[in-house]
Amino acid sequence: MKLFDVYPLYEVCPVRAKDVYVYDEAGTEYLDLYGGHAVISVGHSHPHYVKQLEKQLNKIAFYSNAVLNPLQQKLAEEIGEQSCLHNYQLFLCSSGAEANENALKLASFHTGKKRIIAFKNSFHGRTSAAVAVTDNQKINAPLNQQQEVTFIHFNDLEGLENELKEEDVCAVIFESIQGVGGLDMPDDEFVIGMNTLCHKYNTCLIADEVQSGFSRSGKFFAFQHNNIQPHVITMAKGMGNGFPIGGILVHPDLKPKHGMLGTTFGGNHLACTASLAVLEIIKKNKLQQHAETMDAYFRAKAEKISGAKIKGRGLMLGLEFNFEVGPLRKRLIYEKNIFTGGSSKKNVLRILPPLTVQKKHFDRFFDALEDLL
Ligand SMILES: Cc1ncc(COP(=O)(O)O)c(C=O)c1O
Repeated sequence: MKLFDVYPLYEVCPVRAKDVYVYDEAGTEYLDLYGGHAVISVGHSHPHYVKQLEKQLNKIAFYSNAVLNPLQQKLAEEIGEQSCLHNYQLFLCSSGAEANENALKLASFHTGKKRIIAFKNSFHGRTSAAVAVTDNQKINAPLNQQQEVTFIHFNDLEGLENELKEEDVCAVIFESIQGVGGLDMPDDEFVIGMNTLCHKYNTCLIADEVQSGFSRSGKFFAFQHNNIQPHVITMAKGMGNGFPIGGILVHPDLKPKHGMLGTTFGGNHLACTASLAVLEIIKKNKLQQHAETMDAYFRAKAEKISGAKIKGRGLMLGLEFNFEVGPLRKRLIYEKNIFTGGSSKKNVLRILPPLTVQKKHFDRFFDALEDLL
């Protein structure tokens, strides 16, 4: 049988990985400054993460959500503590798209409305409603186009209020730092105004933290750089350091009902264990503060590259050039053995390393760039 060929592939085949490095069969070491789309948060195969998963695997790997699972409660408490969002409620699923799908559905249940406001250049996933609020017609099938979605620009508060005044909008969904879209961020005043307007017009504000959450931005969630209270916060990627897990945090104003949401795999024993191990490592190694330190270091080095604009925040960073970065990324991989990311803006290089990245790794990256540019 052939694979359904949907991914353009680099000719690299990693067989093992450790912290910020991945290795191919020949033993070639690659510096991973991309973390497989921001998934590797605490470093590849972190010993504590491996140990906890091994231990759990020997006890019980899975049972469905029809029985008690204290690991879910433990995870809820730990996320509450690290994010300081103690009064939110946790629902677990298995991916970012699924988290957004559930968030949008919940907003519609809660408000009784169905139109959604999303932003230009957004990316929220590939399932039904998640892809409909993604600003990319190429991945929107006719089936997905039945959702009622209006795309507006970041920072257009007046435009947003005009839409909300129609009283038919169940949710506004936004990324505090656009990931796939190329690291753009809305202004602080806009974020604060959007939060106020959503509360005024009985519309749920959904913060998509799938890529930016779990301490990558230097706060637990990137929206926490502003003092706002989203109705729903979605998370995935760095949450499990490679183990598929996603989730939503739900504001106490939104009340659960049995059967309202559900999943077979979400919140299983292994997934919770993976995420708890991630949180323990983040806390013990102060990785949130480390993300800020490394941001400052990256900026100082990047400022010396002429013609490059620095984008993003924490360890969700980008370099915008005045040329398309595709060929540069290839050379970084094949000539310098460094993984980086692209974005839908073809001239933006994305840097999403494990949060354990050190100054010496950025030094190697900037030396490589200097050589290649
Ligand atoms: C901001 C954001 N939301 C949602 C998703 C979808 O996540 P997943 O691929 O786990 O479904 C992504 C994936 O890149 C993302 O960056």
